[in-house]
Amino acid sequence: MKKTPIIIAVASTKGGVGKTTTSANLGAFLADQKLNVLMIDADVQPSLSEYYAVDEIADYGLTHLVTNPKVEPSEVASKIEDNLHIVMSDDPEGDLQNWVRNTADGRTRLRYILNQRFTQFDVIIIDTQGAVGALQEATIIAADLLISPVIPDKLCAGEFIHNTLGMVNRLAESTQFMGCKIAPLCAFLNCTSNTNDSRDYAEEIRSLDYSEICDVPVRVLNAEIPDTVAFRDATSSQMPAHRYETSTKRKGGSALELMTNLVNELDLFAEVHNG
Ligand SMILES: Nc1ncnc2c1ncn2[C@@H]1O[C@H](COP(=O)(O)OP(=O)(O)OP(=O)(O)O)[C@@H](O)[C@H]1O
Ligand SMILES: [Mg+2]
Repeated sequence: MKKTPIIIAVASTKGGVGKTTTSANLGAFLADQKLNVLMIDADVQPSLSEYYAVDEIADYGLTHLVTNPKVEPSEVASKIEDNLHIVMSDDPEGDLQNWVRNTADGRTRLRYILNQRFTQFDVIIIDTQGAVGALQEATIIAADLLISPVIPDKLCAGEFIHNTLGMVNRLAESTQFMGCKIAPLCAFLNCTSNTNDSRDYAEEIRSLDYSEICDVPVRVLNAEIPDTVAFRDATSSQMPAHRYETSTKRKGGSALELMTNLVNELDLFAEVHNG
């Protein structure tokens, strides 16, 4: 059987919840587990493209990937490390949104291209823009798994429940006759803190019956990432958090332990090896 990559879209309709941080840290963590990882920066603001130092820049970026069914991985995959590559964002004006919207197969082409032509990768992680739009929809349709960071506060909890899950529901409905299925969603609590407010919203997010409100399976991971200066400092140092902080006396654990818990609970390895 032909091997296809596991495609993960890190998605939320809310800005600033940690999508790029998660994409970058998950990508590097999995690369350190000897998986061949491709990250795709599908945000007009090229934060993921600037997250790590790039060793060899490819000739093209996101636009070529999304619009050319005959794209070769080597044309678009810039090298960060041997088994960590990135397709860089190259669409500052947001023209790609219009192209995807106005092209008959615009929303499904990315899924096809990645599964047909990017089979050398074990895992593909797509960082998305914190908004609703045709390009975001294309990335969600492409995904085998959706990951959504949720900050346990009033604004982010409400946005997750109403808008992120609302977007997933709309897509599940509008794609049901297109031969593609919207992937299950794993949410995790990001930037948790030891305040009553954070604990109350965390409890609310964990206790909801998602089968009542969402048409795809939703799982809230037990693993959570606290609001930790190590995650911000790792970003400033252009380093994966798990390499930046390998031990700590802080309650909750080091970035290495936090990322290990998150990835273990996602259980991607079983999916990669059985898939
Ligand atoms: N667990 C964490 N602890 C501390 N800071 C964090 C954590 N996760 C993310 N951040 C910080 O929060 C800010 C927003 O994170 P990030 O850019 O990843 O969010 P985003 O969802 O990608 O935002 P956007 O919607 O603008 O693309 C960054 O400054 C990042 O360093
Ligand atoms: Mg971002």
